[in-house]
Amino acid sequence: MDNILDSLDLTRLPRHVAIIMDGNGRWAKRQMKPRLFGHRAGAESVRDIVETCREIGIEYLTLYAFSSENWRRPQEEVSGLMSILQKYLQSELRKMLQNSIRLCSIGNLSRLPAFVRETLEETIEQTKNNSALTLTLALSYGGRDEIVRAVRSTANCCLDGQLQVEDIDEKYFSSLLDTRGIPDPDLMIRTGGEARLSNFLLWQLSYAEICFSDVMWPDFRRTIFLETLVDYQRRERRFGRTGEQLRCQSR
Ligand code: IPE
Ligand code: IPE
Ligand code: MG
Repeated sequence: MDNILDSLDLTRLPRHVAIIMDGNGRWAKRQMKPRLFGHRAGAESVRDIVETCREIGIEYLTLYAFSSENWRRPQEEVSGLMSILQKYLQSELRKMLQNSIRLCSIGNLSRLPAFVRETLEETIEQTKNNSALTLTLALSYGGRDEIVRAVRSTANCCLDGQLQVEDIDEKYFSSLLDTRGIPDPDLMIRTGGEARLSNFLLWQLSYAEICFSDVMWPDFRRTIFLETLVDYQRRERRFGRTGEQLRCQSR
């Protein structure tokens, strides 16, 4: 067991961790290697973090793997990323089944190439009864796109009389998002040194704790992740109340 685990309170873990896995390209360039080399190394970090979450008992992990804006990248990088994704899904299926990991996805999947979509759908189907960890991949995902799709379906329900405008509330609206059934993230981590959201989970992150790390994603492994969780546990989540109110309640 590593020392850092001793500093972590396993009874107060975030239920849902979301990660913007950024910095693969710069990590590779620093070593004079092509960007895809960085993406391949990034897939190793994904394995490491998924394993760690499963081991310590985090229930939900959501990974930003490809944004709706990432389609603007050079075609060679996009197709390289798609093939890394498919290989990852194929190579991890056995482990997901052994370790009770359920795979989900969010985003506009219709834009993905058929070979990736098919593998993704198969993996989702085969792991749907697993319950220890829900691993959600955000693919061709954009927060604004997700919100607009939900607004459209709300409007359609109103138009055909299934829904009254007065019945639209936060709970109803959340149930139309791709993340329906998944609790909002408690902690959002962005690696790679940038401090922005890049269109990730715009609705769901409203009260998440946010950690920006300068570490590039391929170097973001178990120990740094556990350190980030320790940092999370030092924070006081007030949800609009005062610190005094919280301390009274917990007594
Ligand atoms: C994140 O790393 C992976 C994806 C966006 C798919 P980047 O590819 O954005 O790496 P940098 O930011 O260029 O270093
Ligand atoms: C965000 O990273 C998307 C993913 C990590 C998949 P980007 O590297 O694409 O973000 P920007 O465009 O630099 O903000
Ligand atoms: Mg980037």
